Amino acid sequence: MLHGGTMVTKPTFYITTPIYYPNDKLHIGHAYSTTVADTLARYKRLRGYDVRFLTGTDEHGQKLQRKAEAAGMTPLAYIDGIVEGIKKLWERLDISYDDFIRTTEERHSTVVQKMFSRLLEQGDIYLDHYEGWYCTPDESFWTEIQLKDGHCPECGGEVEWVKEEGYFFRMGKYADRLVQYYKDHPEFLEPESRKHEMLNNFLLPGLEDLCVSRTTFDWGIPVRENPKHVIYVWLDALSNYITALGYLSGDPELEARFAKYWPADVHMMSKEIVRFHSIYWPIMLMALDLPLPKQVVGHGWLLMKDGKMSKSKGNVIDPNQLIDRYGSDALRYFLLREISFGQDGVFTYESFMDRLNYDLANDLGNLLHRSLAMLKKFASGVIPEPAHLTELETELRDWIVSLADQTEAAMERKEFSKALETIWQLVRRGNRYIDETAPWALHKAGEGERLNTVLYTMFEVLRIVSVWMEPFMPKTAPEMRRQLGLASGAATTWDSARVFGTLPPNLVTAPGEPIFPRLDVEKELAVLGVLALPDASVAPAKEANKAGDKATQAQPEGVVSLIEIGDFTKVELRVAEVVSAEKIAKADKLLKLQLSLGDEVRQVVSGIAKHYAPEQLIGQKVILVANLKPVKLRGVESHGMILAASTDTQLVLATVSGDIPVGAKVK
Ligand code: MSP
Repeated sequence: MLHGGTMVTKPTFYITTPIYYPNDKLHIGHAYSTTVADTLARYKRLRGYDVRFLTGTDEHGQKLQRKAEAAGMTPLAYIDGIVEGIKKLWERLDISYDDFIRTTEERHSTVVQKMFSRLLEQGDIYLDHYEGWYCTPDESFWTEIQLKDGHCPECGGEVEWVKEEGYFFRMGKYADRLVQYYKDHPEFLEPESRKHEMLNNFLLPGLEDLCVSRTTFDWGIPVRENPKHVIYVWLDALSNYITALGYLSGDPELEARFAKYWPADVHMMSKEIVRFHSIYWPIMLMALDLPLPKQVVGHGWLLMKDGKMSKSKGNVIDPNQLIDRYGSDALRYFLLREISFGQDGVFTYESFMDRLNYDLANDLGNLLHRSLAMLKKFASGVIPEPAHLTELETELRDWIVSLADQTEAAMERKEFSKALETIWQLVRRGNRYIDETAPWALHKAGEGERLNTVLYTMFEVLRIVSVWMEPFMPKTAPEMRRQLGLASGAATTWDSARVFGTLPPNLVTAPGEPIFPRLDVEKELAVLGVLALPDASVAPAKEANKAGDKATQAQPEGVVSLIEIGDFTKVELRVAEVVSAEKIAKADKLLKLQLSLGDEVRQVVSGIAKHYAPEQLIGQKVILVANLKPVKLRGVESHGMILAASTDTQLVLATVSGDIPVGAKVK
């Protein structure tokens, strides 16, 4: 950029999210990480940085291969659909990423192979044998002593004994250098507590060499020199942060981009994967002779009242459901305001509604709408020129400068909740200012000059709030300014928000619909189906999901919305009799059933094998969802689904209590 004859280069800011596993739809926990990263990216852009923001998907590994197999699909076909849903979600949430990397892309896999070859050549990686425990959900290796009661110490899940030929990375060789790096760069790992954990639990006791290849499945990037090995999924995944920029791409333009943005300023994630990012990743980079990221940030978890969100608990919340009903900015605001960054936070519908009602409808929405309504009534909707500023306004003006300092300081420290709290101090002050100055009384008393100053000040407060809100609520901020009649320009820059009086007068306002209408909490909870969460009613979908039924994965989980009777009548339920039942090879949860409907026999695959022996089922009259799209489960076609009631441990088939011919409709 040319500025007064000198070259001014913007400082760069490279920020990344974890690349998510596309084995399922993402939930509000994933949305939290991504929204936090997006808010920081937007803030840095407003502060004049040349920002590069990367997100993507981590598409290899045993877990994904198994999921796809269970759904009777190839891994890529299975993943493609989910990735599409993830991209759509980020679009809806206004995630302003510059690049989305998929680890199945060639631009990634060929570079990972090159990296592996280099490490092999220089002796950092060697061939040996691995014997030990492996946690597939976490894709991590554990030693006997590291296990907790025989389970994965990280996720508590089951571990498998793995014995195979494997390549190993000499992690230990770099451990001292890494410890020194931690010492020299106190800001590298945030928060501080995670650094102690990494040092005490992993680095100081001595780092073992890490197994970095697998041979017992093939869904991964093959080692070029020995293709029966696929590269360990974490080595593959972590590399995305440099492959996406263009490292070793051979394309001079992309290599220049890599040189421009690397090292990353912030790798954002939650605490459970900090270990991979603050130990394995920096060591890989050291071995490749590359600079280390400036910061790894491990934030807390978004929890439900009953703990972590998980499919088996059925407490997973789909962000799409909240966006559909309340809009993306409401969700973004809630996530950033409610959770103190770094700490765990709990999601409840009640706290979500409260934030919407108190902060967004009462405080912000009210300030905007009453200001616009008064302006319309007292000044034909045109923002007047202010006259003399009284002490009330000059105090406000000075206070705004200190609020600007506090907001910036909070943003720099990634204290998003605190920044919003500071911004809301001004929102509330705006409402109080109106109460104190009583523009209606000034109008009545014919105090035109004073009224002009007051009206101007009200809108000046709204302008400043809209600028500060921009990184958090990218839809609402411009919508507020649209209603103010204020186009982007000198009065919408970040720095303009600390200067009271920047708002140009004579703007013609354009009042619109309330930005955040007040909600009737009881009604909302009923609409969302959370007043009485009927476990049994979600059970069939849950059960089918376990079997990988894609058709049911499109439904929100854990929350059941009220539906119209017309929605229910779309489902054709019929009585069917089991004429035969058999197990499916290598699928311990599934049974293949032939069901008679009187005039036809249907084949249905059902995830009930853990609860019913095939012979128990013959002659039972069950209830069939007869108009489901056919799917393939473990390669076996299924033309419908049978209903069952279940809890976490029990499952009982739904049947009919009296004598009724097969094929009868259930309504
Ligand atoms: N694929 C790996 C990451 C590889 S990065 C090189 C992975 N994927 S994941 O799909 O399991 O995503 C984990 C990340 O999602 C967490 O680190 C966090 O950023 C986000 N979250 C998932 N659940 C979350 C909560 N309940 N709360 C907050 N963040 C959560 O691990």
